[in-house]
Amino acid sequence: MEHPDNLILVIFGASGDLTSRKLIPALFSLKSQKLLPSQFAIVGSGRTSFSGDEFREKMRTAIFAVHGGRNPDSRLVREFLEQIYYVTMDSAEPENYSRLKGKLSLLNSECGTCGNYIFYLATPPVLYEVISTNLTKAGLADQSEGFRRFIIEKPFGYDLASAQKLTGKLHELISEDQIYRIDHYLGKETVQNILVTRFANGIFEPLWNRNYVHRIEITSSENLGVGERGGYYDTSGALRDMVQNHLLQMVGLTAMEPPSSMMPDAIRNEILKVFQSFQPLREEDVPHQVIRGQYLESRISGERIPAYRSEKGVSPDSRTETYVALKFFVNNWRWGGVPFYIRTGKRLPVKVTEIVIHFKRTPHHLFQRNEGPMNSNKLILRIQPDEGILLNFGMKEPGSGFNVKNVDMDFRYSSLADVRVPAAYERLLFDVMVGDSTLFSRDDVVETAWRFLEPVQNAWKNDPGIKLYGYPAGTWGPDVADNLVEGCGLTWRYPCNNLAEDGKFCEL
Ligand SMILES: NC(=O)c1ccc[n+]([C@@H]2O[C@H](COP(=O)([O-])OP(=O)(O)OC[C@H]3O[C@@H](n4cnc5c(N)ncnc54)[C@H](OP(=O)(O)O)[C@@H]3O)[C@@H](O)[C@H]2O)c1
Repeated sequence: MEHPDNLILVIFGASGDLTSRKLIPALFSLKSQKLLPSQFAIVGSGRTSFSGDEFREKMRTAIFAVHGGRNPDSRLVREFLEQIYYVTMDSAEPENYSRLKGKLSLLNSECGTCGNYIFYLATPPVLYEVISTNLTKAGLADQSEGFRRFIIEKPFGYDLASAQKLTGKLHELISEDQIYRIDHYLGKETVQNILVTRFANGIFEPLWNRNYVHRIEITSSENLGVGERGGYYDTSGALRDMVQNHLLQMVGLTAMEPPSSMMPDAIRNEILKVFQSFQPLREEDVPHQVIRGQYLESRISGERIPAYRSEKGVSPDSRTETYVALKFFVNNWRWGGVPFYIRTGKRLPVKVTEIVIHFKRTPHHLFQRNEGPMNSNKLILRIQPDEGILLNFGMKEPGSGFNVKNVDMDFRYSSLADVRVPAAYERLLFDVMVGDSTLFSRDDVVETAWRFLEPVQNAWKNDPGIKLYGYPAGTWGPDVADNLVEGCGLTWRYPCNNLAEDGKFCEL
């Protein structure tokens, strides 16, 4: 495996949730696997004042919160913490950057990190342009002394115009190959496994097209509500938070043609072609092809679950969608006429992300069934939790006659006893360190995704008559979403039953 060059990682927003919950535990994990550069330092920054020791203590707690169960080697934790520094600064203020630059120069000469810096922008998105501008003005984006890479967290823009504006501004400052736009779904082992399932096996790919596939369904559900993130979520909603990035990226990997190689641009070119082949949605199609919903109060296992509108930071008359389901087509040679259905939501019965390939039925039914309707074969790629692959097919029930029963053949990552599935941020941070941008979204891919969803955003903005459906927390979202899936007796795949013990479906 390639080993990263020596470098300093600067995290803006280091006092925040992402740094503690994901970034530092992922970096520690890389350290445990000896995958960090031999000369390495982390510099956190934020407005909250910490001494170096206070910040290291906060990071120690963060490591134990995630890795505590595995009893991390205390010597390794100490060594790792010794590589962490903190600069208290408001990153919106340009005058603070000379101090940051001084700190980096000092560390660079003390640690021998060869002038290589990675800047991780884990701040509110309004600061992405500001921080990049300030770093550039301070001479910190200049690559003459070492590489300078920028990791930009999601969301990248909130619509097409803002994404284009942000890309335009960044390109005035730095080049596209310095930019790593994070979509942490792409860092998930099972998302990458979509490519391996398709392109390393002779049995699936010949069937992976309109001749054999009836429809494709992608679900990413959360059982939790918005929690402490109500303020942010109420300005975002499910379409921006999940569909534009994670769900469309999964569509891209599921629908793309085989890339010419595993080079970053070869893969991203194929994803772009899928996005460019989306049959454009028109504003007038939105009421029929897109269902939006918002969770309502209900009871689950005797516990009262509050409505979205009662959550902290959420407006009491909010019309933000906590659920969205979408039907669309990929108009190309492989997929012409095959419907794609995607849905995502909060306060659904279970946390699950899966891709379901529904194959066409046999042309003639020879056998009778003792239970359930005549099902088609399904291949289910389970992204999380319980990662794996499941093939569902019909089998003869032992005994007289020819009764057919659906059975599952499955593989679960958890059955590989000594294989650890790395966290998404681990893989992504390592890839930035070695300069591999395969799993990061390119400017044109991000823009094409926003362009596809623009009519939905416009329709919701311009037409107050488009319904927002209320669904009781603990159900699979608005019941009308079943009508999207066209065909006699067809519905979404429901990995488990509704949990709500009361509550009503209604329009809001
Ligand atoms: N948390 C997640 O699981 C998650 C997942 C995916 C994407 N993201 C994205 O990652 C980013 C960070 O998320 P988060 O959850 O960590 O947010 P957060 O907990 O609100 O933290 C935001 C950070 O930004 C810092 N900040 C804000 N204004 C600043 C300024 N003017 N100068 C310097 N620092 C400033 C805050 O520090 P001070 O207040 O100390 O300045 C804080 O450290 C967001 O863009 C979010 O969308 C987060």
